[in-house]
Amino acid sequence: MPDEFRFGDNWASIYEKFTSIRGKVNEAVETAALLEQYSSGGSALELGIGDGRVGVPLSERGVRVEGIDNSESMLKLLSKRTNLIKAWKGDIANFRSERRYNLVYCVYSTFKLLLTREAQIACLRSAAEALDNEGVLVMELGVPALDGFVNGQKTTTLFVDHENTILNSDIHDPLNQTLVSTLLWFSDTSVTRSPHRTRYVYHQELDTMAECVGLKLAERWGNWTRGTFTEGSKRHISVYRRNGP
Ligand SMILES: C[S@@+](CC[C@H](N)C(=O)[O-])C[C@H]1O[C@@H](n2cnc3c(N)ncnc32)[C@H](O)[C@@H]1O
Repeated sequence: MPDEFRFGDNWASIYEKFTSIRGKVNEAVETAALLEQYSSGGSALELGIGDGRVGVPLSERGVRVEGIDNSESMLKLLSKRTNLIKAWKGDIANFRSERRYNLVYCVYSTFKLLLTREAQIACLRSAAEALDNEGVLVMELGVPALDGFVNGQKTTTLFVDHENTILNSDIHDPLNQTLVSTLLWFSDTSVTRSPHRTRYVYHQELDTMAECVGLKLAERWGNWTRGTFTEGSKRHISVYRRNGP
């Protein structure tokens, strides 16, 4: 993928402030609380660990967290926050782990940053192989928001206050289920441009891909406090276990 679209290296400079403004730093407390239950207090591997927004609070709960990320800049943010988490540079679409984990998880729609069906299935296959026999895979994924596009384009205002205006522009490619997006962050006299690409999948497509690699849906929630997943949900938290012995 051209560097222009590589998420981590484009987003690292704004990531902590952006996730804080979006309420994702506060939410990480609830996220870690539920993930701890799925980890059985043991070990966990985060796919696309980023700055440790979730991995750090989870490790503070006594879970041995490890992580993979393909961005040096993101891994640097993580290493500034903690030395309790072993994290390495790698591609979540294709990794092999020596260890087996109680929990493998991929949150905040990171899975959508894999841009082909093949890469997404390969990620699930690697994740399944990294689970121990009773292990659990937890995926948090946004429900595709395809309303409001005009001629395949949409611009959304994400945040406004007296110092900041944050807009997101998307161009939709329905044939490949991809969005080419750019976040534009106006702050005082400067503007930061953070491009990225995503491939959206619906929850049932995710279930089918998981079944292809021997995993079966065990639970699905609409938020991190086990709220019901409904037709109005903007995301789902899907929990998969091995299908059979
Ligand atoms: C949306 S951020 C999520 C970070 C963190 N999991 C969180 O919840 O805050 C996505 C992360 O995945 C990483 N990433 C994107 N594509 C990746 C890939 N193919 N392999 C490994 N990491 C990837 C990015 O560098 C970034 O740190």
